[in-house]
Amino acid sequence: MAFLAQSSWILGVFVMLGLMTSTLLFVIDSFRRSRNEREIHELETQRMRIAVQKAREKHEQSISKSLSWSGNRKFEVVRREIESPDEQICSFYLEAHDHRPIPGFEPGQFLTFELKVPGETSTVTRCYSLSDASDEKLYRVSIKRVPAPRDFPEAAPGVSSNFFHDNVDVGHILDVRAPSGKFFLDTTSDRPIVLIGGGVGITPVLSMLNTVTAMGGNREVWFFYGTIDSNSHAMREHLETVKASHSNVKVVVCYSRPLETDQEGVDYDVNGRVSVELFKQMLPSNNYQFLMCGPPPMMETVIEDLENWGVPDADILRESFGPASGRKAPVMQVNENAEGPEITFKRAGKTVNWDPAFESIVKFAEANGCDIPYACLAGNCGTCLTTLIDGKVSYGDNQPDYDAEEGTFLACSCVPDGAIYIDV
Ligand SMILES: Cc1cc2nc3c(=O)[nH]c(=O)nc-3n(C[C@H](O)[C@H](O)[C@H](O)COP(=O)(O)OP(=O)(O)OC[C@H]3O[C@@H](n4cnc5c(N)ncnc54)[C@H](O)[C@@H]3O)c2cc1C
Ligand code: FES
Repeated sequence: MAFLAQSSWILGVFVMLGLMTSTLLFVIDSFRRSRNEREIHELETQRMRIAVQKAREKHEQSISKSLSWSGNRKFEVVRREIESPDEQICSFYLEAHDHRPIPGFEPGQFLTFELKVPGETSTVTRCYSLSDASDEKLYRVSIKRVPAPRDFPEAAPGVSSNFFHDNVDVGHILDVRAPSGKFFLDTTSDRPIVLIGGGVGITPVLSMLNTVTAMGGNREVWFFYGTIDSNSHAMREHLETVKASHSNVKVVVCYSRPLETDQEGVDYDVNGRVSVELFKQMLPSNNYQFLMCGPPPMMETVIEDLENWGVPDADILRESFGPASGRKAPVMQVNENAEGPEITFKRAGKTVNWDPAFESIVKFAEANGCDIPYACLAGNCGTCLTTLIDGKVSYGDNQPDYDAEEGTFLACSCVPDGAIYIDV
């Protein structure tokens, strides 16, 4: 009897323990489930917020793009700022003269200026990259003074850049074409990026850097800037502020020929040029999008080495500032005996035979006294856009960035593919 009572008491204890355990498990499970649900909800909310933010940005961009203009618009210089100790780079801040809103732009795009330079017989057209993030009221360009080439010191210094430095002050009114260009950063992506600026080629990538930091978020950015020494070091204070205040941004400054007084770790980070060897040492992998602008030798080397490192071509985006020197090289002589296909200049009423010694139709037209206006000579700006009435042209390896509409062509970047009839 006593044994039975003891057994049922023990059984009761087990039942109680079982009940308590399953209640406890139920409570833990409910807690875990509600925590998971909360986390999922938070993630969903975050995802929604990002989607809404992206949609808003797209919307704002489309609205601000609708503010774009065609042809020239007057802008007033409202501020000038020297950006390097050697005073060779100067920023110009521009406000629309009509004080109406201005369109936003993609970081990396440029403005085209049509300048009336005293002493020049025709309008001087030049492109300058926007060097800051998009702003509702202001555009900024940063311009390097271009001297005569080292191997031709008696040549006249650069027309437009020296005009800006010497003559364009606060209050000056300039004719400007709307932002354009296909070299820009995809701001809707979170993809890690490497921005590379050599010399004044810092301008478009600085616009990208400033856009990413202005947008907030944690997009990983490596910013490599190559210059000669502390004298030519542009935007130094700004870059140091960005570096100190954004943990997602790494700024690496390379001096190719530091002064004796320049200190590694203080004035600059690396003694040498920006190179893929450096990327291999500093980046955890090659899985980045690389966006670069700089002098042609630097770009050629870096692009080739990136390709050899296995970076896909689609991840290497570049801007070229066009031929920096030799733009005004003496016009080539026309070869009267050339036997290439016929080129007929409609408005000039002239038909001549193409000479393959010319690199482009623009230069051939110039040599024949049928000027086609040009600026970048690199297929970027569209200044040399010409109507093709009949025939075909070939761009060969010079595929331009600028989209030439059907029936037009960029005379700076192509040669005739058979006889052509053009509206010049
Ligand atoms: C898309 C794009 C964006 C750009 N962005 C920027 C930017 O952000 N900042 C910037 O500073 N630049 C930028 N540039 C470059 C800029 O457009 C100009 O090319 C640059 O300022 C030089 O123009 P310039 O009129 O001063 O020189 P030019 O008058 O065109 O002269 C160019 C060179 O030719 C030399 N020269 C003159 N006569 C002769 C001769 N007879 N024979 C041989 N050489 C001669 C000059 O001394 C000079 O060295 C950009 C270019 C492009 C295409
Ligand atoms: S001159 Fe700029 S595209 Fe031809």
